[in-house]
Amino acid sequence: MSNILVSSPGKVILFGEHAVVYGYPAVVTAVHRTLQISMEYDKKKAKSFFHTLFKNVSDYSVVDLMNLINETDNAHSVLHVHSQIPLGCGMGSSAACAASLSALVMGVAQLKFSREKINELAFLIEKRMHGNPSGVDNTIVCFGGLLQFLRKGKKVEMKRIIHAKKFAHLWIVNTGVPTESTAEMVSMVKEKYIHDSKHTELSFQKIGAISESFSKHIQNEKDGEYWYLLIQENEQLLESLGVVSEKTKKFIRTIEKNMGAAKISGAGGVESASGVVLVYHADEEKFHHMMKKSSFEYFPLVQNNTGIEVYET
Ligand code: MEV
Repeated sequence: MSNILVSSPGKVILFGEHAVVYGYPAVVTAVHRTLQISMEYDKKKAKSFFHTLFKNVSDYSVVDLMNLINETDNAHSVLHVHSQIPLGCGMGSSAACAASLSALVMGVAQLKFSREKINELAFLIEKRMHGNPSGVDNTIVCFGGLLQFLRKGKKVEMKRIIHAKKFAHLWIVNTGVPTESTAEMVSMVKEKYIHDSKHTELSFQKIGAISESFSKHIQNEKDGEYWYLLIQENEQLLESLGVVSEKTKKFIRTIEKNMGAAKISGAGGVESASGVVLVYHADEEKFHHMMKKSSFEYFPLVQNNTGIEVYET
């Protein structure tokens, strides 16, 4: 029997969520927390089943695909899934799962490893789940690193941002799983866009300008003031789009009163929690002290540079 293990990183959108669905740039990083899927299989016997699956991947959602693989008795064992990425919180768990399954199907079908192809399949799977995704999530988990991502219609532009420094003073705080799905949040923003196109478009433009500004200046920035300003500005614009809950706003205001800056990252949520929040705080001790009073899980932002990886034995 052979083994395949696929490991896919999670992601954090630094700037540009929601606006990216409307053709404006977003800046996104892959993070060190991963989702892994593994399976044992008979190389010769499993090939044709997975080859057929590969051709029809776009017919399935992540759950359907997993059920199909697990329920078919066809020279392979069931899938083992292990995730360090908090589920449904804006850190790319669904994209990581879609990409990992695509890579696994391709691997067992004995097709050549191709990030482009895995990304293409993962996008089709994501579309089944999220309706109208920009593709930023599946792209970053496939390619890794730090990217500026832009989609104009069917055309995707992806610029790799190389920066010498490690992220410093940046934290991820998990406010919890939002009541609303990503698809619901995206359609909530669409409603807003339909009712008030002028103001909503202006907010998207300003968000796009924040992403552009960050990509241009990250190389020569000496201190954190820049991060501080951009995060704060992006959060204000996201709040004006109505994607942040009162509970999360209260937490973000506390960070701001304590000399930090914070923004939601991902689709957000309005009813209760808003998923993960990106925090900049120059004073680490003060930040830890402040977080002791909150019940939220938090960890430093660490970039992943490899993107999706496949191990076969
Ligand atoms: C979700 O991680 C980011 C959104 O911009 C949706 C998308 O880009 O597909 C809210």
